[in-house]
Amino acid sequence: MAEILIRPARVDDTTDILELVNALAREGVMLPRSPASVIEKIRDFHVAEVDGDFAGCGALAVIWSDIAEVRSIAVSPEQRALGLGRRIAEALIAEAETLGVARVMAFTYVPGFFEKLGFEVVEHASLPHKVFGDCLDCPKFHQCDEVAVLRILKLVDGAPERGPLSLPLPGHPLPKAAK
Ligand SMILES: CC(C)(COP(=O)(O)OP(=O)(O)OC[C@H]1O[C@@H](n2cnc3c(N)ncnc32)[C@H](O)[C@@H]1OP(=O)(O)O)[C@@H](O)C(=O)NCCC(=O)NCCS
Repeated sequence: MAEILIRPARVDDTTDILELVNALAREGVMLPRSPASVIEKIRDFHVAEVDGDFAGCGALAVIWSDIAEVRSIAVSPEQRALGLGRRIAEALIAEAETLGVARVMAFTYVPGFFEKLGFEVVEHASLPHKVFGDCLDCPKFHQCDEVAVLRILKLVDGAPERGPLSLPLPGHPLPKAAK
């Protein structure tokens, strides 16, 4: 039986993370990452190993005091459908809970995967401004086609920035009801 390990990433995982994420980015299923953005954020990452070999990764970026983002979650094509994606995501969510973060979100092309993990699809415009920080560098900024998903980990009285954005962003129009 294969031995599966989910663990915090180390700097020597950087090449494997970049190769997996950027190969998938070339297929158009996720956004690319630069070497610097992985190395600088290596403490955000967990990796999956199968029998000691790299098999997947995912990162948790703390955006603000009440929200974190799951980023760059990916499993090697030959290791899919074995539960690794779920286990990586659960490790990231557990980390968010340990940090006391109330909500976890993601931008994704596979909302069905996140729905299996207790996330729900939400309007981009329902998310706080802070989560769009990285969008400024995204080639698809003006035509965002990723789906926003959100999972509430704990309810916080008077949590800041929970309402719709106060200003529309290009590619992220406010829903009619919020105008
Ligand atoms: C999405 C991805 C990470 C899933 O990894 P995985 O290890 O194959 O997924 P798991 O085996 O852990 O699946 C967990 C659950 O999600 C479901 N699921 C997996 N991929 C799915 C998809 N694309 N759409 C809908 N549901 C999906 C599985 O059926 C499973 O459901 P179950 O628990 O009821 O059996 C993997 O397919 C991948 O790397 N895709 C390319 C990169 C990508 O799209 N990343 C998403 C973030 S942008």
